[in-house]
Amino acid sequence: MFRERLAQDAARIQEQFDLVLGALDDLNVTHAMAYATRGGKRLRGFLVLESARLHAIDAARAICPATGIEALHAYSLVHDDLPCMDDDDLRRGRPTVHVKWDEGTALLAGDALQALAFELCTRIEVGTAEIRADLALTLAKASGAQGMVLGQALDVDAETAPNPLTLREITRLQSGKTGALIEWSACAGARLAQADPEPLRQYAQALGLAFQIADDILDIEGDVEKAGKRLQKDAEAGKATFVSLLGLDAAKTRAIDLVDQACAALDGYGPKAETLKDAARFVIARDS
Ligand code: IPE
Ligand code: IPE
Ligand code: MG
Ligand code: MG
Ligand code: MG
Repeated sequence: MFRERLAQDAARIQEQFDLVLGALDDLNVTHAMAYATRGGKRLRGFLVLESARLHAIDAARAICPATGIEALHAYSLVHDDLPCMDDDDLRRGRPTVHVKWDEGTALLAGDALQALAFELCTRIEVGTAEIRADLALTLAKASGAQGMVLGQALDVDAETAPNPLTLREITRLQSGKTGALIEWSACAGARLAQADPEPLRQYAQALGLAFQIADDILDIEGDVEKAGKRLQKDAEAGKATFVSLLGLDAAKTRAIDLVDQACAALDGYGPKAETLKDAARFVIARDS
């Protein structure tokens, strides 16, 4: 049931990408954008669509922000994989964008995907001018130097830090790197409805940390075929993760606790929040 819903939402997002990207000029950069957005679990877009559904917002309004956050996430991955960052050659089971084209094309495709995210969030069909501005403002904060970029920068710095990071520092790093976009996604439905996003924020904060712990565990225990990306990279690069700090078993226990916390935050919504609760359980059970 949950996986079907995830697949349905993913297909809907793909249709929207086809529509938007299909209208662009025939260039390497636009082909690279389409390539970079294909595949993946689409968890962030799913969170937008499901939090919108929770607030009885029509999918016709939510699909653009859902596609937008997947564009922004795809940009973050394209840049994360560059030789000057993680230097990865495999993503979603295929060669990374800079390997398939070149670094310049990867840089520009990432830039254009980031801009596209804001274009999609501010499209007229999304809602009133106030709602669209709120989505764009909060996305800017979530993706920039107070959010995802902050986390990525702390991650890069941690590789050469003289001392291992503390639990508090890792939490800050990861809530930027992974948490900020997940939080924006889960709160988007409340923003579309101009409702209180607080319960969803609490859900997403726990979910985001659980998600990153699962990513770090995957990096150690995962199967490259299933994950579709190179593994054992964190230890190799001396990356600070929850697993490097807590050890594998304590990290797993922590992830389970966080999923319970995420689910509890949604209790006030009643049974209609069940799909989002399933998403939290999925996040730590995934193999890709
Ligand atoms: C991978 O994100 C990068 C992290 C933030 C850990 P996902 O695991 O959501 O990647 P896709 O979109 O499914 O490929
Ligand atoms: C990437 O984190 C997070 C962002 C792109 C914001 P990782 O470097 O851990 O992601 P993977 O493991 O390459 O997917
Ligand atoms: Mg990285
Ligand atoms: Mg990486
Ligand atoms: Mg990782």
